[in-house]
Formats: sequence, structure tokens, C-alpha cells
Amino acid sequence: MHLTLRQLEVFEAVARHLSYTRAAEELHLSQPAVSMQIRQLEEAAGLPLFEKLGKQIRLTEAGEEFFHYSQAIGRQLEELDEVIEALKGVQTGHLRISVATTANYFATRLLAAFSQRYPGTTFSLDVTNRKTLLEQLTRNETDLVIMGKPPEDLDLDATAFMENPLVIIAPARHPLAGRKNIPLAELRDEVFVAREQQSGTRIAMERFFQERGFHLKTGMEMTSNSAIKHAVEAGLGLGIVSIHTLELELEAGRLVVLDVEGFPIERHWYLVTTKDKRLPPVARAFFDFLMGDDAAGLMLPGVAA
Ligand code: PGA
Repeated sequence: MHLTLRQLEVFEAVARHLSYTRAAEELHLSQPAVSMQIRQLEEAAGLPLFEKLGKQIRLTEAGEEFFHYSQAIGRQLEELDEVIEALKGVQTGHLRISVATTANYFATRLLAAFSQRYPGTTFSLDVTNRKTLLEQLTRNETDLVIMGKPPEDLDLDATAFMENPLVIIAPARHPLAGRKNIPLAELRDEVFVAREQQSGTRIAMERFFQERGFHLKTGMEMTSNSAIKHAVEAGLGLGIVSIHTLELELEAGRLVVLDVEGFPIERHWYLVTTKDKRLPPVARAFFDFLMGDDAAGLMLPGVAA
């Protein structure tokens, strides 16, 4: 059967109104133009689609079928239109993303893979502390946030997308290096170089030790993971960091991960937005990209950037 989308559109309007005149008005066509389209469609179908009942018209059985399918096709076309418009939005979109200090170690790798998929997109990436991330979310200054500890008291949508294990690091020469299953009690005399008070790493680390009734000696505080790694290497104490921050130091043998009872602390990375935020198409696409199979290979714990 050879027919055109235009004929289906005209037919759908006539069938909905059961009137050639009103369909012609709606479509800004003359009535003879509408009649001609219907006649051509009936010829293509080889069956009448309308029958006359006095002054009224009504659908024949074939007309009912045409009506059902023409409406379905109309909906599909609208959907296609929306998808294409969204895709245009993605292709040229600008993504505003803010990530926790620690997420810096993998965020750029994810953005690079995403921009290969959508070459027209641009980004602004803010790597900042947890306090600022929360302020940005409440002020709607960013589209998406990657953080390890979304707060429970704010109206946020948080979706876990990757593991974020925390490990204890020590200099390679440390007496506990290489020991298996070290009891927590053996860390009693150790001093820890810790992240700043509000960091996700710090909150998780304190909760872990508190729950076990362990008094943690945090001698020094630092706002960056790389400062902590240097401090640990220099012998200032032990450190607790996300496994994502380690790679080169382990490979080069400058630091080791201690095998301590209860470790690693199992955590996750979350994609966070303010509740019910309507994401711009590019942010939606990045969100879907992180949740999809293509990104999964970039996210194995321990494969740090
Ligand atoms: P942060 O990392 O410690 O840099 O805030 C986020 C987290 O692990 O919760």
C-alpha cells in the first residue's frame, strides 16, 4: 500500500472530527484539498474509509483500523521529534559539573570519554570541597554533582554509580607493611593525617572508628589527597584515602595499602541533583552515560587516573 504521512495526517483529522470542514479548518486547507487526500488514501487502501449517514460521515471498519494506526504513527513522530530536539541540545550543550576533591582523580577521564561520544559538548568542571558542593546545590549553581556523601537533610536526588572504597596507606618501610589481617587494636598508637572536617572521606573515617569505639589520633589536617599522600610518604603518619587516588604511588612502591581488619571501608560515588531538577539535555546525557555500559569499564575501583 503506497501512502504518505500527509495523507495519514489529513485522515486522522477528518476521523477525529468526523467532518471534512473542521479538518480543513484545523489544517488550514480547502475542503476539496482534504477530500482529494482522503480519496487518494481510499484508492491506496482499496477500501472506503468513511461512509455517509445522512449528512454525517462515520468510519468504516477499514477506517477504524486506519484511525488506530494513524494515531499511533502520529505519537511516534512526536516522540521522534522530541528525541531529535534533545539530541540537538546535547550536541551543542554546556555541562556544569562540580565534583568532590577526591573525584578529581577520575572525573576528567569520564568527561573525556563522554566528549568523544558527543564531540560538540563543552564543560565547566569545578573541583571543590564538600561544603561548597552543598552550597552550589542549594543555590542551583551547578547541574550535576559527584560526591561520596550526599547529606540526608537536603532535598536531593542521589544515585550511586561506582564503588568508592577507603583504604589505609602507609610508607613502604612501615612495620605493619605486608602484614595480613592486622587487628584494628594495633593501630592504637598510630597518628593519622586526616582530610578536613567536612570532607566525605573524613566523615566516613570518623564514623568507622567511632562505631568500633576506637579513639583516632588525627594529628594533622589537609585539604587535598595529594598532600596526605606526600605527608604519609614523609613519615608524618598513616592516611585514609579513596582507592581512586592511588596508582602511581603503589606502582612506584612509595606507599602501601595496609591490610587492616574492617578495611576497606565500603562506600559509593553518587550523582547528585536537587530534587526533581529538570536537567538540561547535556546533563541528562552525561547522567545516562555514567549509568550505561560504556562508562562501566572506566570505573573499576583501583583503576585510578
Ligand atoms: P571528599 O570525597 O573526601 O574529597 O569530600 C568525597 C567522598 O569520598 O565522600
